[in-house]
Amino acid sequence: MRNYILAPSLLAADFGNLQNAVKLIKEKNAEFVHIDVMDGNFVPELSFGQPVVKSIRPLSDLVFDVHLMVQNPERQIESFVNAGADYITFHYESESSLDVISIANKIKGFNKKVGLSIKPKTPVSQIEHLLEHFDLILVMTVEPGFGGQSIILECLEKVKELVKIRSEKNLNYKISVDGGINEKTIELAINAGSDVIVSGSAFFSGRL
Ligand code: DX5
Ligand code: ZN
Repeated sequence: MRNYILAPSLLAADFGNLQNAVKLIKEKNAEFVHIDVMDGNFVPELSFGQPVVKSIRPLSDLVFDVHLMVQNPERQIESFVNAGADYITFHYESESSLDVISIANKIKGFNKKVGLSIKPKTPVSQIEHLLEHFDLILVMTVEPGFGGQSIILECLEKVKELVKIRSEKNLNYKISVDGGINEKTIELAINAGSDVIVSGSAFFSGRL
């Protein structure tokens, strides 16, 4: 029995056989499927969008944890809800015509869980006043945009801060870490207090 939620990232899966990827995630008893959506603008690359999510939705009842690395995340909410997202996480740093709380409320309006993500250079102090509005805080431990990078260890200090604030303010968000988590670094992430462990390359290469 794990004391954390494992969230394999489909970004590292074989896109030619996503059915097999979902099967593997189930076999390894992971609870979340982490779905990295990239728009070629907030981050340089493109990944996949709603049609892909919709086509894998019937394959499992796992929790679909959508990580939007996009500008104007508010434009994507409804279609990802319709595609079957359970959690929708957007970036504090993304451009938007709406403020962070309005985007969060829009997601909650569809009865979905809402997450806020911060890039490595964004300190927790910048989002502290927003934490009460979220079910999940996603701490990026690499620069978003690419799988297979090495963890930036200092980012784990943010996990510790978030644990402290959560208990001081009696909040109940989950803390997720994303980027460079492998068989060697996972323990550091767990010891810092992470609740959700996202893993792409280490999971799909059989190391986690
Ligand atoms: C990076 C993505 C991650 C990525 C993690 O922008 O948000 O979810 O897939 O990949 P690994 O585990 O390979 O660092
Ligand atoms: Zn991600």
